Amino acid sequence: MKGKVTWQSPSNIALVKYWGKTDPQIPKNASISFTLANCHTTTTLNYIPKKEASDSFDFKVFLEGKEKQEFAPKIEEYFKRIELYLPFIKHFIFEIHTNNSFPHSSGIASSASGMSALSLCLMSIQKIINSNISKSDFFEKASFLARLGSGSAARSIEGPLVVWGEHPSIFGSSNLYGIKYPGLVHEVFTTFNDTILLVDKGVKQVSSTLGHKLMLGHPFAQARFDQAQDNMSRIIPILEKGDLDAFIDLVEKEALSLHAMMMTSDPYFVLMKPNTLKIIEKIWAFRKTSGCHICFTLDAGANVHVLFPNKDKELASKFIEEELVGFCEKNQYIRDNVGAGAIII
Ligand code: PMV
Repeated sequence: MKGKVTWQSPSNIALVKYWGKTDPQIPKNASISFTLANCHTTTTLNYIPKKEASDSFDFKVFLEGKEKQEFAPKIEEYFKRIELYLPFIKHFIFEIHTNNSFPHSSGIASSASGMSALSLCLMSIQKIINSNISKSDFFEKASFLARLGSGSAARSIEGPLVVWGEHPSIFGSSNLYGIKYPGLVHEVFTTFNDTILLVDKGVKQVSSTLGHKLMLGHPFAQARFDQAQDNMSRIIPILEKGDLDAFIDLVEKEALSLHAMMMTSDPYFVLMKPNTLKIIEKIWAFRKTSGCHICFTLDAGANVHVLFPNKDKELASKFIEEELVGFCEKNQYIRDNVGAGAIII
């Protein structure tokens, strides 16, 4: 049985952040994210059965058509972690061809979209072997596998809102995989915009692997995990009622708490750049004078995700173009919005 399969998987942006984990990729708190539409990875997996059985993984990885040997250790590690759940992977020779819709080295992590796309491709092979698997089990296991590649990848399978990590008020939530947010969602949150301002396109100063490790033994870790669980409770009525003011307050607090953790870890890091702060100040000033429901969130880096509802799109886009884009490296930014999840191609 040889063939190929292609999945396109989205990136996601966390509203309540995951930062801190235990083995094997178990989050210390629940998190919730918007699935994005335009930032995605497309992965084609070519597979050929091995002529003779061997005890090693056999694969090559290509990014935009070029072989990337430097990606091999990460994939090897991923295969080791998932082998127990997909025993067939040692029976095949794989070629992994991957392309990102966002510019390479834009400072946008491709691990969430990349690991979810690869996991979905592997699940498609699993489905050929065992065609009985239901659609919901297929996505659940794809998220489970993606999590073992990169934690936040567990949230990059479905959309528009995904929860990963156990939370007492969110039915079906699990530390092992992401689920579509099961609560009521006001329509304002089904069409939200995320404009990503590329303040620093360089390689991340702190890898998320190191970042998560720094939470172990961090003096404020437990308070942070409790705060995140509490924010997960608080976001439930916000999403239901479409309470934009409370949403803004919660999302910005989450972003700043994430960065506060990094500023107070040992060793410490400041991941914002001067232009990150300038953008934040501009957003605050503009929100006050215009009444526009615009806010920011951050990943573990200097780039700024600017969030706003569709009803404020015209106002917010004009403000971003006239006043914020100048703070981006080479004026580069990406317009994105909430998406529906991965698709097979
Ligand atoms: O999935 P990882 O291990 O790269 O961690 C990502 C963590 C943040 O992006 C900073 C927050 C989140 O919840 O996505």
